Amino acid sequence: MSIQKSKQSSVQRLTAPYIRSLKGTSPIVSLTAYHAHTARIIDPYVDFMLVGDSLGMVMHGFESTVPVPLELMIMHGAAVVRGSSRALVVVDMPFGSYEESKEMAFRNAARIMKETGCGAIKLEGGSYMAETIQYLTERGIPVMGHIGLTPQSVNTMGGFKTQGRVKEEWAAIEKDAKDIDKAGVFAMVIEGVAEPLAAKLTKLVKAPTIGIGASKECDGQILVLEDMLGLSPWVPKFVKEFGQIGAAIEGAVELYAEEVRDRSFPSEAETYQMLTKKAKTKTSRAKKRPASS
Ligand code: KIV
Repeated sequence: MSIQKSKQSSVQRLTAPYIRSLKGTSPIVSLTAYHAHTARIIDPYVDFMLVGDSLGMVMHGFESTVPVPLELMIMHGAAVVRGSSRALVVVDMPFGSYEESKEMAFRNAARIMKETGCGAIKLEGGSYMAETIQYLTERGIPVMGHIGLTPQSVNTMGGFKTQGRVKEEWAAIEKDAKDIDKAGVFAMVIEGVAEPLAAKLTKLVKAPTIGIGASKECDGQILVLEDMLGLSPWVPKFVKEFGQIGAAIEGAVELYAEEVRDRSFPSEAETYQMLTKKAKTKTSRAKKRPASS
């Protein structure tokens, strides 16, 4: 008897369990993506791409991620899924869309997954989110955690403050990591923590740790794409600018403005001329449908 392959078997996306299985093997590579075109470019190189709520600050000019609405995450999430075909797409749950109750979290997470086609969601918070994380994972929603510096808590933290740089802060963060690990996260982002704490957390939990400003001691790394491309007006200490796209854009726009002003653009090469009678006939003939037999 031949084995019938379902249509689904042609889908080659990396999955949340696959990302989890990478712990202790090779470093996990990830970046944020907010649009179809950047998703397409980074797709072959990353294990997962995160539609982070940082898009509120990077793309929409908000001062923090707090104002980001669920609909905006869904719109960008769907674009990133359409633009990619290989990497796992993880979409952030924005502030106010999951904290109130586990039922609310499920409703909104299910909406994100149905309306974007993503493979997992991410939410911020430690021990106090463990019950919600377990509720979601038991109901078919892969959850990535996010502890340490949690930007959605900027107003209670009093700023974007690095964590665990004094030993007294370690116990609470270790408990956060253990509790969300036990609750079933398939990976967890560790943001803005001191290197020795990142090393300890990575040894402590079964899920891979994905560092941002958390040293090379994590199981993987993530950066905001625009930051590492040199597109952001300022970047935190932990960002390395691997490219200088901002300067390249400015150079191209400056040249365009110059050429429009001195009328060297558009040139002959970018201009349509009138068709000769002969060319016109040829074109319209070519467009004729073949007669049906
Ligand atoms: O929103 C985001 O981009 C994030 C990353 C910084 C991990 O959460």
